[in-house]
Amino acid sequence: MTHYHLAVVPGDGIGPEVITESVRTLQALAEIRGDLECTAQMFDWGTEHYFRTGQMMPDDALNALESGGFDGILMGPVGDPRLPDHITLWGLLLPIRQRFQQYINLRPIRLLPGVRSPLAGKQPADIDIICVRENTEGEYAGVGGRVHQGEAHEVAIQSVIFTRTGTERVIRYAFDYARRQGRKKVLSATKSNSLQYSMVFWDEVFQHVATAYPEIAHEQQLIDSLAARFVARPEGLDVVVASNLFGDILTDLGAAISGSMGLAPSANLNPERRFPSLFQAIHGSAPDIAGRGISNPIASIWSAQMMLEFFEERAAAAQLMRAIERVLEANEHLTPDLGGSASTRELGDAIRAALKD
Ligand code: IPM
Ligand code: MN
Repeated sequence: MTHYHLAVVPGDGIGPEVITESVRTLQALAEIRGDLECTAQMFDWGTEHYFRTGQMMPDDALNALESGGFDGILMGPVGDPRLPDHITLWGLLLPIRQRFQQYINLRPIRLLPGVRSPLAGKQPADIDIICVRENTEGEYAGVGGRVHQGEAHEVAIQSVIFTRTGTERVIRYAFDYARRQGRKKVLSATKSNSLQYSMVFWDEVFQHVATAYPEIAHEQQLIDSLAARFVARPEGLDVVVASNLFGDILTDLGAAISGSMGLAPSANLNPERRFPSLFQAIHGSAPDIAGRGISNPIASIWSAQMMLEFFEERAAAAQLMRAIERVLEANEHLTPDLGGSASTRELGDAIRAALKD
């Protein structure tokens, strides 16, 4: 029996409802299998915490996560219309990614069986991409400043940071992933026609790393035309490696072509396992539907499934993925984003029932 101790941060908006379904599903899976056990410690960090204390999370929060013996962190979305998003995100999620060196953000983009893509005629085999997004530097390095605020001559600078270490490790991870998973090609998202320092450097590192993987094809494409290709011809795409911001944008596009923002998961990984990794749906807190019990919990449950994969609980992870796929294929118990009328809880219950088949 393997025991996993999780830190759980439900977050804002629909976060608590989708996270509840993830935790219940993990516990149901553990009970059915009998070979693993999950315990969860809840942290009520987020916007309500901010209004109570003036901080999104307490001063010692990162130390508590680091020293609490956690195997992983399950997190809901963060953001609330009452606060500027850069305050909430730089108060909670982004410092965790940086401090815990979660430099890989792994984001599958798959059209699951039974789900309709807005792209006409697409089948599951046509959309099966894995985006490896850099997650600690690039456009999200957090370096910059503003002077002369409010004046006509105000200046705002947001610096992008590309280090050789950071660039090489994410590209290497993408090739290693391709090798491990038997994938055939790694495509690098670039913009070196206009970004003559950062992206020309990125391209050089990509070309250099690629030489160590002769059996894996490699290709680079400008991000603007790659965005068009996601819509026009997603079939040829396999592993895609991208900088922080490019990967962010591409994966919302990826979620849209896969049928719903409510389906897309992510894993923020510290591959060395020096720090806990964080698993989170890529969608936002959806304040417009929060509290109505109609949000889709699949993105969050699938993120928990990615956590099991990271724990190398392969059989348990496969069992959970099959259950998600079965429920989607059966086309019952689906939430409104997928054209159904089920509640968050009903969809979660259907997945837990499918675990037993
Ligand atoms: C995501 C989100 C975050 C990001 C936000 C909330 C900071 O959009 O995980 O994709 O941009 O990385
Ligand atoms: Mn995003």
